Amino acid sequence: MLPGGEQLTFDIRYLWGFALMSLSPLAAPAQPTLTRLGGNIGAEIHGITLSPDLPEQDIDFIYKAMLEYKVVFFRRQTLDSAQQEQLGARFGTLVSHPTVASAKGTNHIFELKARKGRAANTWHADMTFMASYPKASILRCIQPAPYGGATLWANTVAAYQALPKPLQELADRLWAIHTNDDYDHTDLIAERDWEFVQWSANVFAARIFETRHPLVRVHPETGEKSLILGNFIKRLADFNLPDSRTLLELFLSHATRPENTLTWHWQAGDIAMWDNRATLHRAVADFGDFPRLLQRVTLVGDAPVSTDGRASEQIVNDQPNPRVLLETPHQWAERAQA
Ligand SMILES: [Fe+2]
Repeated sequence: MLPGGEQLTFDIRYLWGFALMSLSPLAAPAQPTLTRLGGNIGAEIHGITLSPDLPEQDIDFIYKAMLEYKVVFFRRQTLDSAQQEQLGARFGTLVSHPTVASAKGTNHIFELKARKGRAANTWHADMTFMASYPKASILRCIQPAPYGGATLWANTVAAYQALPKPLQELADRLWAIHTNDDYDHTDLIAERDWEFVQWSANVFAARIFETRHPLVRVHPETGEKSLILGNFIKRLADFNLPDSRTLLELFLSHATRPENTLTWHWQAGDIAMWDNRATLHRAVADFGDFPRLLQRVTLVGDAPVSTDGRASEQIVNDQPNPRVLLETPHQWAERAQA
């Protein structure tokens, strides 16, 4: 393991893809390289200009790097929304958000448009209220905030591995209920941001999904064990709320130790691609009232499987929310545009 920031020649496992080219008398394309960003997570990829028609060996290089480093970055790319969708489709099948409409003119893009300084500023993995939640997400920065507005990622495989054995054994046996209702990512700003509370209730949670996930899943591609945590969790199954909160805080505090995370400061055009089965992420809502715009695509994943071989279960699937519907989404959208 080389210290962060040091330039690496790429992993020996990727050499085979370029070996034949290196024997050719013709000039071979530049080989991609990785710069690691931290001891436990993250790498920046150089030498690849992202486009939907990348050669297969580049797609393979990126995907394997994502599996190994959990999140990979590309600085100042030039993809537009359509190209982002097309590139995403090279890595899997795109899936739309189940309650939030895709960005105008796109099929699957989830838009993160911040006004009034709001952002998803608590730890989560994307859409874990679904049994088969996305395997990966690809996020593109269109307009960074003039300051602040970074995104943090944490490695939930390294977090599990670093737990003392008794805590690993406890985690192996725990299950948690995840839901899109009461998603508390406004906890720091909700009191002064009623519009966002309305949006959360009337759009994000207009239809309810709930899933029972193991706290530890076995990664279907790497075989690694990772913690499934984050703010879509309502509570641990079979625990009362105080005990549930205490235990979840214990595991989350391990997962989000600074040594287990990295911080990415966005520039326009930047792309991040992460393994949503092996990470948590959150934004930092420290950019005042400035706008901040990013777009995301997500790739279909499969239902987690626990260490003893049991799959996650969807408990509530796409039910109207009778409790928090303050306005219809249509009414809300009309009022928001007025
Ligand atoms: Fe997210």
